[in-house]
Amino acid sequence: MQPFTLGDLKLKNRVVMAPLTRSRSSTEGVPPAYAADYYAQRANAGLIVTEATNISPQGVGYAYTPGIWSDAQVDAWSKVTEAVHRNDGRIVMQLWHTGRISHPDVQPNGALPVSASAIRPEGQAFTEKGMQDHVTPRALETDEIPGIVEDYRRAAANAKRAGFDGVEVHSANNYLLEQFVRDSTNKRTDRYGGSIENRLRFPLDAVRAAIDAWGGPNRVGIRLSPATTQPGNTPLDSTTHDTYGAYVDALSKLGLLYIHTIEGVTQQTRDVPEGVDFADLRRRFSGAYMANNQLTLELCEAELKEGRADLFSFGRPYIANPDLVYRLTEDGPLAEAPKATWYGGDFHGYSDWPGMKGPVEIRR
Ligand SMILES: Cc1cc2nc3c(=O)[nH]c(=O)nc-3n(C[C@H](O)[C@H](O)[C@H](O)COP(=O)(O)O)c2cc1C
Repeated sequence: MQPFTLGDLKLKNRVVMAPLTRSRSSTEGVPPAYAADYYAQRANAGLIVTEATNISPQGVGYAYTPGIWSDAQVDAWSKVTEAVHRNDGRIVMQLWHTGRISHPDVQPNGALPVSASAIRPEGQAFTEKGMQDHVTPRALETDEIPGIVEDYRRAAANAKRAGFDGVEVHSANNYLLEQFVRDSTNKRTDRYGGSIENRLRFPLDAVRAAIDAWGGPNRVGIRLSPATTQPGNTPLDSTTHDTYGAYVDALSKLGLLYIHTIEGVTQQTRDVPEGVDFADLRRRFSGAYMANNQLTLELCEAELKEGRADLFSFGRPYIANPDLVYRLTEDGPLAEAPKATWYGGDFHGYSDWPGMKGPVEIRR
C-alpha cells in the first residue's frame, strides 16, 4: 500500500472508502453521534467519501439521510471530521440532490420532487412509511436553477466549515445532475436542455459554485456514472461518448481534483456498454482518476500497472470490514454485511463491526 498525493492532500494509500448511504440520520438530517466512530474506524483508507449528503431539503430523496444546510448538521459533521482527522484519515463530503429519485413524503410540505423534465422514474422511494412508488416529478422552471446552484455553493461552504478536506459533487447514479446531463431524462427546450453544452450548463454551474466556496478547484472532485441505469431504470444518454467526453473535458479545464467513475453498472457488472470508454475519460482528464465498482485487490493492481487509475474506491466491502486496508494487505477474509443492515437502524451492523483481529481501536 503506497501513499498517493492527491492535489495537496497526502493520502496514506490509494484505497478510498466509496460513498455509502446508511440512512441512520434523524428526521432533521442530522447524522448520529456514532457516525463519528463509524467513519473513524475506516480512517485506514487513504480517503473517505461520505455517504451522499443532501444540499437542501428539496434535495432529499430517501428517509433518514443526512444534510448539510443547517447549523445542527454542520455541528454533527464537525464531530465526524474531527474523529477522522484524529485517526490520521482524510475525508470529503459527497454533495447530493436526488431530483426525481424522491417522493412527496420526504419533500418539504409534501411537494412534488423536481427534475429536468416531468418523466417518472421506475421503482420505489424509501420513505418513513416504507417503500412507495415514485411519482412524476415537476420540471424545474428556468429561473429556479440558479437557486439550486446557490444551494450547492452553501452546502460546499458548510462542508468546509465542518472541517472536511474537500467535497465530491454527486453527478452520478441518475440523481439530479445526471438527470440534466442525459438526453433520456432531459427534454428541456431552454438553455439547460437540447445540445450537450446546454445539458452540461447546470451541472458545471454547480461544480463552479463548489469551487468558489472552496476558493479553488483543488479540493473539489466529482462522481460520474455514464454506464449506470440505476436507480429508476434510467436509459443511458444517446451519445454517451460525446456527452461524457465533453463533460470531462470541461471538468479538466476547470482544474478539478479528481473524477470518481463507476465503471460498468453500479453493483451489477463491470461490463461496459458500447459507446462508453473509461480509458478515454481518464486520458481526457488532467487530475486524478478514481475507479470504482466491484474492485478486488487483483483488479486494482492490474489497473495500476496499466496506468488505468490512480485511486480505487471500495463500497460494500467497507460496510462489514472497517479494517479493509489491513485485510487487503494480509490477504485476509472479507466479512459480508447482511442487506438488512445496509439502510436504516442504529449502530448495530454499522459501527460495531470488528476488525480481522478484534475490535478496531480508534483514538477518541
Ligand atoms: C448500501 C449502499 C449505499 C450506497 N450509497 C451511495 C451513495 O450515497 N452515493 C454514491 O455515489 N454511491 C452509493 N453507493 C454506491 C457505492 O458507492 C459503489 O459505487 C457501489 O457499491 C459499487 O462499488 P462496490 O462494488 O465496491 O460496492 C451505495 C452502495 C451501497 C451498497
